[in-house]
Amino acid sequence: TRATVTLDRDFTVGPVPCRLFGSFVEHMGRCVYTGIYEPGHPTADENGYRQDVLDLTAEMGVSVVRYPGGNFVSGYEWEDGVGPAASRPRRLDGAWHTVETNAFGLHEFVGWARKADVEIMEAVNLGTRGVDAARRLVEYANHPGGTELSDLRRANGAEEPFGITLWCLGNEMDGPWQIGHKTADEYGRLALEAGKAMRLVDPSIELVVCGSSGSGMPTFGEWERIVLEHTYDVADYISLHAYYEEKDGDAASFLASAVDMDHFIESVVATADAVRAQRKATKRINLSFDEWNVWYQTAREGDDMPATIEARGEWREHPRIIEDEYNVTDAVVVGTLLNSLLRHGDRVAIANQAQLVNVIAPIRSEEGGPAWRQSIFWPFARMSAFARGQILSARTSSDRYETARFGDVDVVDTSATWDAETGRVAVFAANRGLDEAAEVSVALHGFAANRVVQAEVLTVPEGADRFASNTEGAADRVGLVPLDGAAIDGDVLTFTLPPLSWGWVLVE
Ligand code: AHR
Repeated sequence: TRATVTLDRDFTVGPVPCRLFGSFVEHMGRCVYTGIYEPGHPTADENGYRQDVLDLTAEMGVSVVRYPGGNFVSGYEWEDGVGPAASRPRRLDGAWHTVETNAFGLHEFVGWARKADVEIMEAVNLGTRGVDAARRLVEYANHPGGTELSDLRRANGAEEPFGITLWCLGNEMDGPWQIGHKTADEYGRLALEAGKAMRLVDPSIELVVCGSSGSGMPTFGEWERIVLEHTYDVADYISLHAYYEEKDGDAASFLASAVDMDHFIESVVATADAVRAQRKATKRINLSFDEWNVWYQTAREGDDMPATIEARGEWREHPRIIEDEYNVTDAVVVGTLLNSLLRHGDRVAIANQAQLVNVIAPIRSEEGGPAWRQSIFWPFARMSAFARGQILSARTSSDRYETARFGDVDVVDTSATWDAETGRVAVFAANRGLDEAAEVSVALHGFAANRVVQAEVLTVPEGADRFASNTEGAADRVGLVPLDGAAIDGDVLTFTLPPLSWGWVLVE
């Protein structure tokens, strides 16, 4: 397989949005409890934050974390999670059939986020609640003091306001599984009024309205149009959610998932811009891809919300839910999804991989035990660390292959960035071919690069197959190894990607 990529200093998409490397912590399964928070764990600090998970979060380079849901937020009363821990109520969380102890709430999350050095993206409940609860939460969190709610925050131990800028107006309100599911008109009206009231409390906040919970939803397109017609004046971003999986052994289509993500993003941009044109607005609505990942949902089908099925039965605290184990193929797909997000970084301003720990997550942890990196950890960690400066328009011409779900697709998928300060160019590339290596040649126009700084690749480990994964007992089976042979000759960089691989090359 051959692919040629042309990069030109003058052909940039825009700056790399730092919020593109976001993650998501939901009160779901073991993401919070025994994930980021486990008092008594050998690595836990005095607040119960697991240091091993914090270290991996830092290594991943996570910039922003969405909280507290997800489907959970649509039945959540934020007041339950503040105040003395001993008097917080135990509640049934219907979304995940779980007993929520409320031992962890807003203050605990803010403390964790500060320690993890990540921005907070806070979601409000527009399922069972509405305008008043949302504006009161903003006042509690962001108002300095001198009012009942802001003084309550101070009495609860936080003298300074939390200063949360980014807010989600509900979660997946288009989904019939959502508690308080609404039509586009119902949701649009509510989101507008909640957003207005929240901004009257703190004019500096940024607001994300719910788009569709997947491009396959029957209301996709119409939902975005109607919601934006209601909320255009108050919204800054519209959300997108997408999960991909290998179905029926069709690896070829699964590996092409980023083609679907490209199409999804471009469709939402078109819809948002159509509403803009209709309204003769100057403001542009950007995109918040605030849930994306590989998720093996089909195996759990049979319920309105497929994932809930394994959580039915007894009501328990933090049960194991959707702890997917990721393999080499999944890591290559995640690399291409990150490529897609980066390629669209002029309009996708925020993206959150779902979720951070244990629940469809790059990090796994066991109660009282270790934490480790799943295969999908690696593309995220390297791209968040090395996608710097300007996104380059990577013109790629690759051999192509046929897929059942997404038609004719490039075998090699790429993205690239250029950091003017350091003069470094980073190229991220995946070889979707299962059998053949890919020879990639990158024409570097207008850069002064003449040396390869670093090159690594994730592929099938020797003696294993594409289903190889990391487990508690073999936590480093799948990872990055040096990509030998990457070289620059004149203004052409060449490297060879092994079959089924994701790699990256940094030059200067
Ligand atoms: O991330 C898991 C779940 O997927 C979230 O709670 C929900 O928003 C989505 O459907």
